[in-house]
Amino acid sequence: MFACIEPFVSGSFSTDEFVDDSPAAICGDAQFVAFAKRCNDIAIRGADGRLAESHVLEAIQTITEAFVSEWRIPDSRYLACRPDAPYASYLLFVNDQASFSIVLDVFMPGQAAVIHNHKCWCAFTCLDGLERERLYDVAPDLLSPPAQTEERICPVGQVRVLGSDRFLFHQVECASDAPTVSLHLYGADIGRIQRDMWDAQAGNGGRYVHFSSAYSNEAAGLPTYLAVSDLPE
Ligand SMILES: [Fe+2]
Repeated sequence: MFACIEPFVSGSFSTDEFVDDSPAAICGDAQFVAFAKRCNDIAIRGADGRLAESHVLEAIQTITEAFVSEWRIPDSRYLACRPDAPYASYLLFVNDQASFSIVLDVFMPGQAAVIHNHKCWCAFTCLDGLERERLYDVAPDLLSPPAQTEERICPVGQVRVLGSDRFLFHQVECASDAPTVSLHLYGADIGRIQRDMWDAQAGNGGRYVHFSSAYSNEAAGLPTYLAVSDLPE
């Protein structure tokens, strides 16, 4: 059995209403359910064209900053490191329309994401430890290597947002001598869409290639933390 630390009881939904066996329900994580519900509603309005992407990002940033000032995942299975992979990436929620997903990433010291784009909007924040983000300029013809424009440390609780521009590339890595945990929200089912990354090991000095990032849930034997069926109407 997994360990649930003190469950959060705040939020506007009663866990009595859960119909599925989501780990979020077992832990009584009503705070996460309320957060997923609010963000999902905004993401759907964005995907339907009822809300401009800039307004989606503004709302998601505000809600997420308030949320992560109080929340940490109570189910410790979703915090497990993966020494056998580039890093661990656990799916916490994805809607039926594949227009919104919430993911928890865990980096061990020395682990890093590739230089990548998202092809959808993205918001992320470090919950524990220290992460470093690098931003890049990428030529529209995708023929020359990405040029780093910025490097920054991500303070815990500060939410970064990135638009869906295909040429918006970044990279995130562990910047501390202990594992880091970060929460990511996307305007798509991020583990199942095809995106672009820079492959520096490819011949002739590297090139951009397609990739899908996938989730660690299956390898870890974990379900999605919150099932759609456990999201309130
Ligand atoms: Fe990213």
